[in-house]
Amino acid sequence: MTFRIVVGADSAGFEYKEALKRHLEEDERVGQVVDVGVTSDEDTDYPHIAVAAARMVAAGEADRALLVCGTGLGVAIAANKVLGVRAVTAHDAYSVERSVLSNNAQVLTFGARVIGLEVARKLTSEWLGHVFDEESRSAEKVAAIGQYEEPDAP
Ligand code: RB5
Repeated sequence: MTFRIVVGADSAGFEYKEALKRHLEEDERVGQVVDVGVTSDEDTDYPHIAVAAARMVAAGEADRALLVCGTGLGVAIAANKVLGVRAVTAHDAYSVERSVLSNNAQVLTFGARVIGLEVARKLTSEWLGHVFDEESRSAEKVAAIGQYEEPDAP
């Protein structure tokens, strides 16, 4: 199985996103990379990019999303507005690992103004090595998050 990954960034993260896209494309664990922007001559604000990517994940068109803005925070907040999506900003190896193994987060976000690109490349590679275990004790907790998305949630 290979990952279908959607990438996106606002203009603050454009170059960084391009570099991480190339990094993903060179990884044999990745079967497809879809880029929802921005392009070099585009200036779309981060909420629109993040929601476009998150909707692809929610629709099953992508397995994961890697999003970049200045801090990584705005794209995470926006992506989390899409039902079923769990997006986190993680800039260290332990958080990246736990975002998958504890939280089954499908969306990882980086701040281009926060961590260096080489660190982001390394974390991206590690991220691809983590897969959520549906049989783990974390599955029940992740399911509980989903229950709060129901319209009649207490
Ligand atoms: C853009 O100026 C900046 O606000 C954005 O990239 C991001 O950091 C927002 O969370």
